[in-house]
Amino acid sequence: MHEILNPADVDASGLVELAQDPTAPEGLVFHHAVEGKPLATPWQVAVLRAALLAKHSLPEGLVLDCACGSGIQLAAYASSLHRPVLGVELEPARAHASAFNIQTVAAHHAATEEPWFTESRIVSGDGTDAEGVLRAVDTAQRIAFLHLDPARPRNSRTHALEEMQPPLHSVLREWAPHFAGEPAFVLDLSPRLTDQQRGEVEALVEALWPGLPRTWEWTSRGRGRVDRLALWGGCVAERGTSRRFVRVPQTLGKEALILRTGDTHEAPTVRVHPPKRGEFVTLLDAALVESGLVSSWLPSVSKDHTFRWAVVEGRRPQVHHEHALRLNQQQGTLVQATGRVVELLNIELNESTVDGLVEYALEHNFRSVKLRLDLDPTLQPVLQGSLDRQLQRRHGVREGFLTRHPNGHTLLLCVLVHDEVEGGRP
Ligand SMILES: C[S@@+](CC[C@H](N)C(=O)[O-])C[C@H]1O[C@@H](n2cnc3c(N)ncnc32)[C@H](O)[C@@H]1O
Repeated sequence: MHEILNPADVDASGLVELAQDPTAPEGLVFHHAVEGKPLATPWQVAVLRAALLAKHSLPEGLVLDCACGSGIQLAAYASSLHRPVLGVELEPARAHASAFNIQTVAAHHAATEEPWFTESRIVSGDGTDAEGVLRAVDTAQRIAFLHLDPARPRNSRTHALEEMQPPLHSVLREWAPHFAGEPAFVLDLSPRLTDQQRGEVEALVEALWPGLPRTWEWTSRGRGRVDRLALWGGCVAERGTSRRFVRVPQTLGKEALILRTGDTHEAPTVRVHPPKRGEFVTLLDAALVESGLVSSWLPSVSKDHTFRWAVVEGRRPQVHHEHALRLNQQQGTLVQATGRVVELLNIELNESTVDGLVEYALEHNFRSVKLRLDLDPTLQPVLQGSLDRQLQRRHGVREGFLTRHPNGHTLLLCVLVHDEVEGGRP
């Protein structure tokens, strides 16, 4: 049974999970239900994606999100594309939250009289039942664009595609006959999908629409992991771009940094060399490395031709090179830290050895050293606090970081590149 909700008619009664999304402008507060908040797309990501979608011309027809959760992505599409949207959500309270959030966004834009708002609908029901949904909203319109962001099992590091709810294969199979022309979709998938699972998704799409253009998109908010992994298909895929990397800007309204390639992916290969003073060490955005776009990006910001990859997986991919990177402010958001090695320390860092690290840091004129290596999470703040306190009392000027060489036992004390001229022992 499908129930239709008109976003213009709903109120907030019964919706108790109210939350300010830290990435949304002040005053734009969303409602959630049945623990929908952790499932919701961050507003900034939703708006960025809607802006990318707006660059494509979609055919006449419905803009559909068939598992719309709290409706955050749906509201961003409606308000950016200025087109009515149709959302479907299995959990009735969340369907209600979706309808109310669209109303909130319309009010925020002073657009409550606009057709994109007054004609939008939410269906409380099963998003895999294409026929049932279309019958319920009583429309002869076809689908111009489909968005799918399925729920994934919690606390699972990797998981099978079949565990996504609603299942990808059912959604694609059921909605495939209803597209207006060339299909257009965004599949917002788990950022933890393996290469093999991405291959399975490709195979599903290929089986339905042989040769359909596809662009994979890795999105990063610079937190040492892939934030979103999405497949853009059909007339919203970027021609000639098989992979795209999007770095979400630090503040709302700033331009995203987007890198693209049409090449097939060649993962960097690890080439561990003995630790060496004087070389440069860069810790990169993990999503940039996973996307494969790092191989074309690095040469564009460096005069080096060879890069020695020390770590390619995990939260702190590490590359070694001979010269400093040349980064503008925006490119700088793709590195976690970059600097020159000034000291090699063969110590196990703990509470009894941190004073030794302070001695070295003072010798090299540091006023701060950030710990950028895997440490016991309870020990990390203790050691960082001790370092900060001891260095602040002295008169050092340089800033730096400490990371671990992949040999596992050598720590690399590095000076940040912009402090190179400040002196200290070479
Ligand atoms: C990850 S959330 C979507 C979040 C959404 N993109 C947002 O911005 O708020 C996935 C949603 O799919 C819903 N869902 C699961 N199976 C479904 C089905 N068969 N039909 C419709 N919705 C379904 C879940 O209840 C959940 O709310």
